[in-house]
Amino acid sequence: MMPFGSDIAEILISEKDLQKRVRQLGRQISKDYAEMNPYLISVLKGGLYFLADLTRTLTIPHSIDFLAISSYGPSSKSGEVRITKDLDESIAGRHVLIVEDIVDTGLTLSYISRNLERRSPASLTICTFLDRPYRRIADVPIKYKGFDVPDKYLVGYGLDWRQKFRNLPYLGILKSDMIEEV
Ligand code: IMP
Ligand code: MG
Repeated sequence: MMPFGSDIAEILISEKDLQKRVRQLGRQISKDYAEMNPYLISVLKGGLYFLADLTRTLTIPHSIDFLAISSYGPSSKSGEVRITKDLDESIAGRHVLIVEDIVDTGLTLSYISRNLERRSPASLTICTFLDRPYRRIADVPIKYKGFDVPDKYLVGYGLDWRQKFRNLPYLGILKSDMIEEV
């Protein structure tokens, strides 16, 4: 039931609660974007899990696409990122919804938003599953969010620690001795 259980201090959001929230978001987005054929963009790799679940709850036509990014340097404070995989199609005139796993400082997303704005979408909106609003450095307007979360190292549901734990179906708090090992 609990793979990698010994590395997880606590389950913060169970699979059941998390999937329930995804369905609520899906209903709201299906309503708000009816007949707008939205273009959902996920930022690899973390956002992939939420996107896959979210799209399966949508009842409206839509497309999906992916962006992959890498930060400049090991701890880029500027939020300056390099796009390592770009979108497949033009988003000019499209209703774009960025689907993220978590927004923390907002630096990454603010860079991505500015980049996408320059491509003249009809609208650009952010949906994040998790949010730490109290950590914000760059202001990013969030229209849809799943949960506010505490300032603990979280893993699962797309979030990783050294590429591990993304596949956990729940959101867990990583044991602190794992992090101190670094
Ligand atoms: P920021 O909003 O630019 O500070 O960065 C957000 C990114 O940091 C997310 O997309 C995640 O990749 C990563 N991140 C933030 N908090 C966590 C966490 O608790 N666990 C794992 N990754 C995290
Ligand atoms: Mg992310």
